[in-house]
Amino acid sequence: MTAPVRVLMVCLGNICRSPTAHIVFAQRLAEAGLQARVLVDSAGTGDWHIGHPPDARSRAAAAQRGYDMTDLRARQVQARDFHDFDLLLAMDENNLRDLQRLAPPEHRHKLRLFMDFAELDERSVPDPYYGEAEDFQRVLDLVETAADGLLRHLRQQLRE
Ligand code: 4NP
Repeated sequence: MTAPVRVLMVCLGNICRSPTAHIVFAQRLAEAGLQARVLVDSAGTGDWHIGHPPDARSRAAAAQRGYDMTDLRARQVQARDFHDFDLLLAMDENNLRDLQRLAPPEHRHKLRLFMDFAELDERSVPDPYYGEAEDFQRVLDLVETAADGLLRHLRQQLRE
């Protein structure tokens, strides 16, 4: 069996968007029976929330759709992540720019916007931190669409 594909979801705080992407994509992988072939984790470019559980508003919005985020804890992107992961997926353009700045040149090809995998016009998952409940629902809508597209992409890659 070939080594698993490793995917890191990245946002700013690792308490709203990237843990949402992490849990949604993990569930998609489990449903597809691919949880041993594709591994997912998440991290933030910032250090403010290291060790914290996901934001209560993200947890509540996720729970409404059947996702359980209670076991996740925030961590910061580390230098070794660029080596350890095959794909580092930024939630917005600021996160992508921060990753591009941190990444060794030989690993920059692994950096993408998560929304590249959604067949939508949106390029980013907007930061909901200073927003309302509906902004957290919007995060889930975008994340679910991109997770479906990412699953299709990786299934194709695993077949090749
Ligand atoms: P996230 O949201 O990047 O989706 O986890 C944020 C969480 C915290 C902050 C900003 C965005 N903050 O400024 O503390």
